[in-house]
Amino acid sequence: MSPNDTYYLPSTAAPKLEGLVDRIVARPGTFLDLKTLKEANAELDIKGVIPTLPEAISEEDFVGILKLAMLTECATDAYAAVFTEGATRYDAPWLARFNQQVWVPDEHTHYAPYKWMLQTLGYNEEELDNEVRSVQEREYEHCCGTTPVELTTYGLVQEYLTDHWHGLIGQLLKPAAPYAAQCAHAIKRRETLHTIWYRDMTAIQVEENPEMLGLVAETMRRFTMPGTRLVPEYGGKTMEWMANANVDYAHMGKELVRNFSEVAGTVRKTGELFLEATIRRGYKLGPFPPKMVRSVMNRLGGPGYGLIGEAILDKVGLPYPRSTGVTGRIRESLRNFIMARIDLRTVTGKTAS
Ligand SMILES: [Fe+2]
Ligand SMILES: [Fe+2]
Repeated sequence: MSPNDTYYLPSTAAPKLEGLVDRIVARPGTFLDLKTLKEANAELDIKGVIPTLPEAISEEDFVGILKLAMLTECATDAYAAVFTEGATRYDAPWLARFNQQVWVPDEHTHYAPYKWMLQTLGYNEEELDNEVRSVQEREYEHCCGTTPVELTTYGLVQEYLTDHWHGLIGQLLKPAAPYAAQCAHAIKRRETLHTIWYRDMTAIQVEENPEMLGLVAETMRRFTMPGTRLVPEYGGKTMEWMANANVDYAHMGKELVRNFSEVAGTVRKTGELFLEATIRRGYKLGPFPPKMVRSVMNRLGGPGYGLIGEAILDKVGLPYPRSTGVTGRIRESLRNFIMARIDLRTVTGKTAS
């Protein structure tokens, strides 16, 4: 059977998801302390960073990178409204509770530090506030579906990429503005937690109903970062900036595959998810149309998916249980055949191109 796109969870799912949110609400970790940061304002001065930027990153690019962080983060309420609406429509009080009690108050602390940093570069506070307000007033159009599993999958990818963005800023700041770099890294750590939480929420839903892999794959296909829609003047430049900042795409690919394999739960299901996403993205898998590959895999009864799962994990350098002897050698040659035909963009989107 192929994963499908109808959202359904058995009644055993709710207590698990509520339990996860209980644990998050009880121990959300430490939010950013904006009062302390504001008092240390002088140390957020980042003027000295300009001469230390990598050659391919101009001052204008650097300002754009910071503004993209500030303007994407300031629109928290618009994203939260989409989550609340989906949680209400699909009766997922656990998701509404996480969103309102943890995620929103946490995210509300993420944009101000970048505003303060930009002020030290000579940008006027009132103008920055106006820019923030104008983005907050823009209509936010969500890229993906709004069932809970689509929302948590979206959250997983968006938080991972945002985590990466704050890390990139931290790296650029570090040589000349260590305090500001620490601040970017403190925000990054929050995004890391958000990624893990959304990953776990998605994994529980898939575990409770493996058919949900269809909606996970559909979200992988439709995903775009909110900044590309909400702040296209900066969001449209991220690929160029990432390339110029020498971002480690292989590492990003590996982390995304790791997260999705944890969502899928087993090597077989990782293969199934990957094949489903390949079909939906319209990519090829060797000489055969992926739909044909899927129908053959379904006839094989599943072990074929295991091979595809192994191939994708191997491709990014992640471990998986290996067979030994003749079986191991045959699996290896089949796996290598599949691996050579895998298009990593299935998982990473355009970032791998
Ligand atoms: Fe954030
Ligand atoms: Fe976040």
